[in-house]
Amino acid sequence: MSDKMTVYICTVCRQKDEPEVRPGQQLVERLEARLTPQDREIIAVETVECLGVCTRPCTLAMAAPGKWTIVLGDFDAEKDVEDLVQSLHLYAASENGRVPKKDRPEAFRRGGVSRTPPPPK
Ligand code: FES
Repeated sequence: MSDKMTVYICTVCRQKDEPEVRPGQQLVERLEARLTPQDREIIAVETVECLGVCTRPCTLAMAAPGKWTIVLGDFDAEKDVEDLVQSLHLYAASENGRVPKKDRPEAFRRGGVSRTPPPPK
């Protein structure tokens, strides 16, 4: 049984080689188009303006009550949507937000930025 989680995606990072492109916005649109009604029962998508990882778009954070918050970067808005959906399900199904490296999809593995423990109760 999965718990409800939120993925926060930065929509204001600029692509290095094409600064007019905002890849996070593209990732949000592709993810929203890809998620099924069943996915949406456990995954909420929120946009944010900056996660402090500005040089590694697309940047995102996975968070849920009582779980570690995981910040990731370097997601490709075209190629990594399926890896993102799989990563979100793995996170949602995890006990504490920590997904074993061996289980992570490629984009999750390469995109690691930080992990922060849940706040004290
Ligand atoms: S502008 Fe996207 S992480 Fe800072």
